[in-house]
Amino acid sequence: MVDRHFSVPNLAELYDYFSHWQVSPQDDFYLDLVMNSRSVLDVGCGTGKILRVARERGHTGRLVGLDPANAMLDVANKDRDDVEWTLGDLVSGPYDGEAEPLEEGGFDLIFMSGHAFQVFLTDDDVRANLTAARRLLAEDGRFVFETRNPAARGWEAWSPERVRTVDGPGGLKATCVHRLREVAGELVTFTSDYSVEGWGEPEVIHSTLRFLDADRLNAFLAEAGLEVSAQYGYWDRSPLTDTSTEIITFSRAA
Ligand SMILES: C[S@@+](CC[C@H](N)C(=O)[O-])C[C@H]1O[C@@H](n2cnc3c(N)ncnc32)[C@H](O)[C@@H]1O
Repeated sequence: MVDRHFSVPNLAELYDYFSHWQVSPQDDFYLDLVMNSRSVLDVGCGTGKILRVARERGHTGRLVGLDPANAMLDVANKDRDDVEWTLGDLVSGPYDGEAEPLEEGGFDLIFMSGHAFQVFLTDDDVRANLTAARRLLAEDGRFVFETRNPAARGWEAWSPERVRTVDGPGGLKATCVHRLREVAGELVTFTSDYSVEGWGEPEVIHSTLRFLDADRLNAFLAEAGLEVSAQYGYWDRSPLTDTSTEIITFSRAA
């Protein structure tokens, strides 16, 4: 079940206003990988900004954006219809039987950005998604993704004192406030209140994300037949340490 964040059209439309290009250095990091790969699958692509920019910059290969939220893909498709926007997920594949299939061994690069990997909440989810990614990777292909490092306790900053305000659709002021609700082992639950001038009541969205540490993550990767080729703590490729905010993982078939 996808968060309302991504499934409700006016919230999906807000996404790029809060996460526009280079809000995080992740965008240039992944763009470079995409531009150097022939056949790319972006899992949990959302509004697909990395693939859209890749096409704009002249990528001529296969670009597939996969996401279970129609509203996010609608935003993506409005901007560019020359990317294969595919409703679905790694485990089920495309939900529409008419969509181009995701062939075994078909991708040089599979990536997940925007901490999308953290939506896999159970061990079974993690195992099934990693196994599916492994199956879709070409022989020398790479599966690259990031997850927030639990040691950095990033959730402590998700508090109402930090209000983000941006110019939203039609130049209207849009604000977002997060509130931490619960930390239960690896699962962190929080709410996000979105308001846009003229909306009346804010939209309140409940989300849960899983924070796996590197040892647990690497054990799941090994179980799925993937080996870690590099792991970094930030987008400048600095080493992963106890204080790193990110766990950025490059993996390939073992
Ligand atoms: C925070 S957004 C990240 C979007 C994009 N990757 C980015 O960097 O901007 C997380 C995305 O994961 C998608 N998602 C939710 N459940 C998923 C699943 N089981 N498999 C793949 N993607 C999923 C959501 O619909 C949403 O678009």
